[in-house]
Amino acid sequence: MGSRLVTWNVLGTSTLLFLFLFSWFSSVTASVTYDQKAIVINGKRRILISGSIHYPRSTPEMWPDLIQKAKDGGLDVIQTYVFWNGHEPSPGKYYFEGRYDLVRFIKLVQQAGLYVHLRIGPYVCAEWNFGGFPVWLKYVPGISFRTDNQPFKAAMQGFTKKIVDMMKAERLFQSQGGPIILSQIENEYGPVEWEIGAPGRAYTKWAAQMAVGLGTGVPWVMCKQDDAPDPVINACNGFYCDWFTPNKAYKPKMWTEAWTGWYTEFGGPVPHRPAEDLAFSVAKFIQKGGSFVNYYMYHGGTNFGRTAGGPFISTSYDYDAPLDEYGLLREPKYGHLRDLHKAIKLCEPALVSTDPTVISLGNNQEAHVFKSRSGACAAFLANYDSRSYATVAFGNMHYNLPPWSISILPDCKNTVFNTARVGAQSSQMKMTPVYRGFSWQSYNEETASYDDNSFTTVGLLEQINVTRDASDYLWYMTDVKIDPNEAFLRNGQYPVLTVLSAGHALHVFINGQLSGTVYGSLENPKLTFSDKVKLIAGINKISLLSIAVGLPNVGPHFETWNAGVLGPITLKGLNEGQRDLSWQKWSYKIGLKGETVGIQSLSGSSSVEWEVSSVAQKQPMTWYKTTFNAPGGNEPLALDMGSMGKGQIWINGESIGRYWPAYKAYGSCGGCNYAGTYDEKKCRSNCGEASQRWYHVPRSWLRPTGNQLVIFEEWGGYPNWISLDKRTVQSVCADIYEWQPTLTNWELQSSGKVQRPLRPKAHLWCSPGTKISSIKFASFGTPQGVCGSFQEGSCHAHKSYDAFQRNCIGQQTCSVTVAPEVFGGDPCPSTMKKLSVEAICS
Ligand SMILES: *[C@@H]1O[C@H](CO)[C@@H](O)[C@H](O)[C@H]1NC(C)=O
Repeated sequence: MGSRLVTWNVLGTSTLLFLFLFSWFSSVTASVTYDQKAIVINGKRRILISGSIHYPRSTPEMWPDLIQKAKDGGLDVIQTYVFWNGHEPSPGKYYFEGRYDLVRFIKLVQQAGLYVHLRIGPYVCAEWNFGGFPVWLKYVPGISFRTDNQPFKAAMQGFTKKIVDMMKAERLFQSQGGPIILSQIENEYGPVEWEIGAPGRAYTKWAAQMAVGLGTGVPWVMCKQDDAPDPVINACNGFYCDWFTPNKAYKPKMWTEAWTGWYTEFGGPVPHRPAEDLAFSVAKFIQKGGSFVNYYMYHGGTNFGRTAGGPFISTSYDYDAPLDEYGLLREPKYGHLRDLHKAIKLCEPALVSTDPTVISLGNNQEAHVFKSRSGACAAFLANYDSRSYATVAFGNMHYNLPPWSISILPDCKNTVFNTARVGAQSSQMKMTPVYRGFSWQSYNEETASYDDNSFTTVGLLEQINVTRDASDYLWYMTDVKIDPNEAFLRNGQYPVLTVLSAGHALHVFINGQLSGTVYGSLENPKLTFSDKVKLIAGINKISLLSIAVGLPNVGPHFETWNAGVLGPITLKGLNEGQRDLSWQKWSYKIGLKGETVGIQSLSGSSSVEWEVSSVAQKQPMTWYKTTFNAPGGNEPLALDMGSMGKGQIWINGESIGRYWPAYKAYGSCGGCNYAGTYDEKKCRSNCGEASQRWYHVPRSWLRPTGNQLVIFEEWGGYPNWISLDKRTVQSVCADIYEWQPTLTNWELQSSGKVQRPLRPKAHLWCSPGTKISSIKFASFGTPQGVCGSFQEGSCHAHKSYDAFQRNCIGQQTCSVTVAPEVFGGDPCPSTMKKLSVEAICS
């Protein structure tokens, strides 16, 4: 106390008095505030690294491991949306169990010693069904979503308050000693507001006031919302956000979504974002004064059940995230970011205390220098050129900067990290069958039958209004009378049936026989069926099975987008010419018979007669059932559905999700250079193949024996080829340049233990329980290619393999110094060399 008063007397500024009172106060009560530099936790400005993990996209059994891996990856914060439609499936009926146990998830994050950024929304987009809104909300009288509309605002406030009250009751806000340091209201509303004008602006003001009024004691954020009203902080989402400036000088620069990859849609290629470019974008944001970065996604996970949005969003929400769909480390992305975070944290004292000085180092090169009054100094040296290396002078040293990269110097002198120099190993994953030859039983779903659940109207109805999204499936059925005098009955020129549908997929049955299938895409969910149909004299039954593939989650008033057969429906080539079927009597049936009896459940599956001896192959509209015992081990599991068409999967009654391997990825795939501006069309894979072939089966959904697997196949497939696979590391690679900066090197140099830089090391690491069994490739020189397809270049040290053969075979982990003498001498002295190595784990 005395010494603080002395400080006050000597320096005598009101700032210091404020700081003194503030720190005294904050030692009693936890607090989160902010200033122009950063989020301030208990009086301390923080550089915060955050990552999105959406709790319903994994299982509670996976949560502790995911959170621990996030912590080991250098994260301070876990960010999640709150999923309204999962929590309030019908008005006033709440659900917070299982994968929706939000409080349990947050408490696990707290136990791991991490903070939480809670994005309540309640609009969340997230490629999640209906953007997170419950479907019943659409049918509240007079409602209009996300605008100045009383019924909507009342519902939104109700749910937001429900969540805030729940968090308060569990004492989960930092102001109460809990882990939640930030909340978010709305989500990427700016573009919508811009489009709708005044009511949008009024709604933004209302939403901010409503949220702040809930008194959480921690700041609120609005992302992509340039006019976020005080005290709410506006934040940036995107592949790059270094350009972003908050709307007030006293707000910190926050990046709520740094996209680690992109989502996959059925029919689309699989996106990948190179680790080097992601690290570059984050370093660039930090060098420009950014202090909060959240990876979206850090673990993407799985759209279990019918939670995928879109339409056409795939069941996998892998997102090319640092933790893959199964919760395994995606290397080198995970390790490279972990190293980046360590480098940034070494700079934290300088970063939070001052704004950077920018120094030009060349046409396309610059330095950002953070020099605090207390003497801390950190520098970021950037080369924005996407093609050329640059050698720059900084201080009294020279630095070599690879293309499109940033070097981090936590002492303004020694490089600890360069975004384009990956020290972490990469790994190649493989899927290996652990169970095949399931013995299947089959059951043919009924087509076009009227029963107690069907009803009849005149004309065509919108699908979601009828199903309320209780099922993907809606039958539209009608009768068409064909006169025996029709000419086509004699000349075989069958009439053409044309059906226009708002989407998303459609099977057309004529007298119980599948006559054709059409489907849309994420870009255009609408579809048209137009084909000759074999009608007979007398009454013909036309049955249209309309299928939703996830409800839209984004776009102005996406809630008004229709699904289903809205017509017109015409029959051409009759004696009378064209007949319009749109306005005749149509009967409707929601869902499949199998769904009605609960065929996917253990009890419901016995309510139909299963075919055991002649199991249907390549037959549309078929249910398959089998039982199996859980495979040993603890590797993640997935079903290989490559031989199947389209449908859904359940294990022990739990829905694995929609599958659609028959929808091949259209578009272009190609080479992938990390350098240059990334967008989601770059670096894609799987063109011409299934967008998604494997479907995650959480271990915790299995019991040791007698697991029931049920599949509904719409198109026809070969179930005998289905296998249950385990996911493991096949091989690990290192790709290390000579003199590449490393953290260890930096620690030794900055502590004065060594005077000159040390050589880097190649570290290889197989998963526990496996060992390095062989060296598939090793070359010190100028090797080409990437992990899995390395090739020797024109320069190759003849003893490249030796050190790895000696040190690594039979080991789980090993390391080898990358220096010429280790590989039998320098094979090409004046050339910059690197080491590429691939080792097989088994
Ligand atoms: C839903 O269907 C009912 C009955 O046909 C109709 O009155 C109503 O306008 C429809 N609502 C919407 C939002 O389409």
